[in-house]
This record gives sequence, structure tokens and C-alpha cells, in this order.
Amino acid sequence: MKIENIKDEFPIFDEKILNNDLVYLDSANSSQKPKVVADKINEFYTKQFSNVGRSVHYLAVAATNLYENTRSSVQKYINAKDKNEIVFTKGATEALNLVANTLGQKYLNDGDEILITELEHHSNYVPWHFLRKSKNIKINFAEVNENGDISLEDIEKKITSKTKVIAITHLSNVTGAILPIKEITDLAHSKGIIVVIDGCQGAPHLKLDMQDLDCDFYAISCHKMYGPTGLGVLYGKKKWLEELPPYQGGGGMIREVKKDKISYGDLPNKYEAGTMATAQVIAFDQSIKFMESIGIENIMKHEADLVEYGQELLQKNNSVKLIGNPKNKGGVLSFTLEGVHPHDIATILDEDGVAIRAGHHCCQILHDKLNIPASARASVGIYNTKDDLDKLNESINNCKKIFNLK
Ligand code: ALA
Repeated sequence: MKIENIKDEFPIFDEKILNNDLVYLDSANSSQKPKVVADKINEFYTKQFSNVGRSVHYLAVAATNLYENTRSSVQKYINAKDKNEIVFTKGATEALNLVANTLGQKYLNDGDEILITELEHHSNYVPWHFLRKSKNIKINFAEVNENGDISLEDIEKKITSKTKVIAITHLSNVTGAILPIKEITDLAHSKGIIVVIDGCQGAPHLKLDMQDLDCDFYAISCHKMYGPTGLGVLYGKKKWLEELPPYQGGGGMIREVKKDKISYGDLPNKYEAGTMATAQVIAFDQSIKFMESIGIENIMKHEADLVEYGQELLQKNNSVKLIGNPKNKGGVLSFTLEGVHPHDIATILDEDGVAIRAGHHCCQILHDKLNIPASARASVGIYNTKDDLDKLNESINNCKKIFNLK
């Protein structure tokens, strides 16, 4: 599939939003859905529906096969060694909570330290904070530098003899910094430290290869990958998933239940308690196939061109202050406009049909560090064009007129 015509695959772009053509620049928050994904959800509910992994009737077996097909597609897409290293969750947030919680139950002890960074969004901080409360675990922060980046040197400096886990984003949702995960993992493993990657922004935009990255856990948000909401993927190395305890109890995750003892099912069932987000999992197979049909190299090239173009445009625009100029930058353009609250920027842009996000983007620690309460953020996806970024710039100029800015 050609990326140039990809907007045609997304029905939302046929809609008028407040009488405007939609310029959607909020994909870091959540991406729009291609028709094939929406159609699959409809087809599953109307023609194929059954719960999975339980009954033996025709529909149940067919639905189970579809569900497991998605697991195989994800395994292939991220090049995991084993299909059972793919666990479905209700989101990347639940995936990160699962890791923090189970490491807390079995692996971490009072006085141990977790290293995160000042770039992390709340899903990769708050779950670790719970351990700080319940287990006397200390959280250290690698510091964001003037480019909005994290250096390997600072990570190395912040590791102590008590560091047991490094939990780190692959791609910052505010500065766009792409972190050197492979190098971080090599460094961590040389010191016996577990590496957990928050791949919320990495997975939709970067080539993923779990065997090459060698991280211990990688959390994925499916709704940012042109997929359904209510679904995440946790990749975990088999040895960890086997060793750690279950996260939630219920049907589907057990082997045997007696009054005096319970044993748990094999992977990945051990971590998939209760009826799962079945339709979402089944439709997510279409998202993966859709991205594969374009090709991740083409997606990366397209988005890199867009971000370079957008950055140049906004750099030339007086009064716009871009946040973060990291060496390797993903498709996020966060900015402030002198004297204008980001919510006002977003509201004025919305009147022109330009959808961006304003606020702290679930990164209060980073905004505190930058000494600003909030920022405006335009973020790109496969459907964006340079024309969209021109419209963003024009709309920022309209906003400047309203506030009498030069
Ligand atoms: N969904 C959040 C974002 O917009 C974290 O970046």
C-alpha cells in the first residue's frame, strides 16, 4: 500500500469536523483507525462472535483461532522469540502495572532502586511509585538535558549497586527523543539490571526487534498503532513471565482450583485472566497487517520527513518556542507560544480543524523541569502530509493575530 494515498483508507477524513477538513495532529495521544480495523470489529460482532478459550462449539474454536492469530502476528511483527512471550492487556498502562506489580511481589526487596527518567509519562512512573509506598523502593531519575534528551552517560551515572530495574521510554511523547535502548540494555545487563521499555510511542513509529533490543519487557499501546482502544501488549522474556507470579486472578489463568490450593495455567494464559478484549485483539491483527503492507521503513522515512519539515517551519515562526531538539527525534512537535496558554492555542486551532493536544501530556515531571505548566503538541502519524503542517503553521498565525503577537 502506498503511503501517499493512505488518508483514503481512514473514513474519518471524509467527515467535516466543525465544517472543516480534519487536520489530525494528535496521533501521539491516539491514532485514527483504518476502515479494515473498524470493519473487522463489526464483522466479528455480527458474524463471528464467541468468547475464546472456553467452549468447544464451532464459533468458539474459530474465534480462538482468530485471537491466537493476532498473537502470532504480534510475535512476528516485534520479532519475539516465542509466541508465549506476547501477553494481551487492557492497555500499555496495564502492561506496565503488571510488570511493576509482579516484580514487586517476587523480585524486588526493601531498599532496592528503580531508575526511570524525567521524560517518563505517568504510566511509567506511577506504577513504580506504588512500590515506593508498599516496599520502600527508591526511584531515581536520569535527567533530561537541554535538548530534551537522556544521555547514556547520565543513565550510567545514576546506576548504583542497588539498581534492580531500569524502566524507560523508547520515544518521548513530548520532546520526541528516541532513546538508545539497545545501548541502555547492554549496559544494564552487564550489571544484572532488568530493562523495562515503555513502547507507547516507540511501537507505532519505529522498527521493533525484541531479540535485537534484548530488553526484558516492552509495553505496547494498540490504539496508538491504528488499532482498537482497550488493548495493550506486554512483551516479556519467557524466563521472567515463567518466574513471576500472576497479576490478576480469575477464569482462564488457572490450571487447577481446589479448596486448599490453586495452580496456574501455562503462558500466556497465566496473565490473561477473565474474558479478554476479544474483538479488539482480533481486529488488531488488521492493524498489524495494515502497517506491514505499508512497511515500517516507509513509515519511518515518511514521519522523519514530516517532522523535519514541521520543525523548520515552526523554528522560522516568531514567538513559537519548540520544546526539545534531540539528536534522534520522532514525530512530535511540542511548543509554547509567548504569553498564550496552550489550551487557548489548541482551542483556536480546533476552530480551523487542526486537532492537537495541549496540557502536560501526562508528563508533569518533565513540565516541572522545563518550568512551564503545559505545552501545545502536534504529533504525526502515517496519514499526515506537509500540507497538514502548513495548515498547522497558518492556524498558529491566526492564533498569534488574536493575541497580537508578531
Ligand atoms: N496518551 C498520552 C499522550 O498523549 C500519554 O502522549
